[in-house]
Amino acid sequence: MKRVLMVCLGNICRSPLAEGILKSKIDTNKILVESAGTGGWHVGELPDQRSIEVAQDHQIDISYQRCRKFTYADFKDYDFIYVMDKSNLADVLSLAQNEQDRQKVQMILNEIYSGQNIDVPDPYYGGDKGFENVFQMLDEACEVISNKLK
Ligand code: 4NP
Repeated sequence: MKRVLMVCLGNICRSPLAEGILKSKIDTNKILVESAGTGGWHVGELPDQRSIEVAQDHQIDISYQRCRKFTYADFKDYDFIYVMDKSNLADVLSLAQNEQDRQKVQMILNEIYSGQNIDVPDPYYGGDKGFENVFQMLDEACEVISNKLK
């Protein structure tokens, strides 16, 4: 079974959406998709209401998800670790113990814009439009990821 982890800062806005979107495109009996945050402020909480709503607008339920913090042990438990921005990338790589760990980590939009290290903007302090924008970016990236995983 292939195992994919989506990582952002809070694990309440972007990575829960990435998890839900990728799950909607793959066979969840064959591929494990989960998410985590590099920060621990929201551990145990539901995704942000605005993420729940934008997912719902696209017939995806993420309301069962609960926030958890990324740890170095995740390098062993996942094959592909997708981060949302350069700050997540630095935080995750700071916990890597070897080259094998480091090679698992990729910025998610590099699946569309190869090698360009473009950030998925953090919508937390923005308006609702930011969430739809983030949804569209993640949907495009997850389409590429789902085809690669098949
Ligand atoms: P996320 O957004 O990384 O997309 O989940 C954030 C959510 C909460 C915080 C930061 C970013 N926060 O500082 O609480």
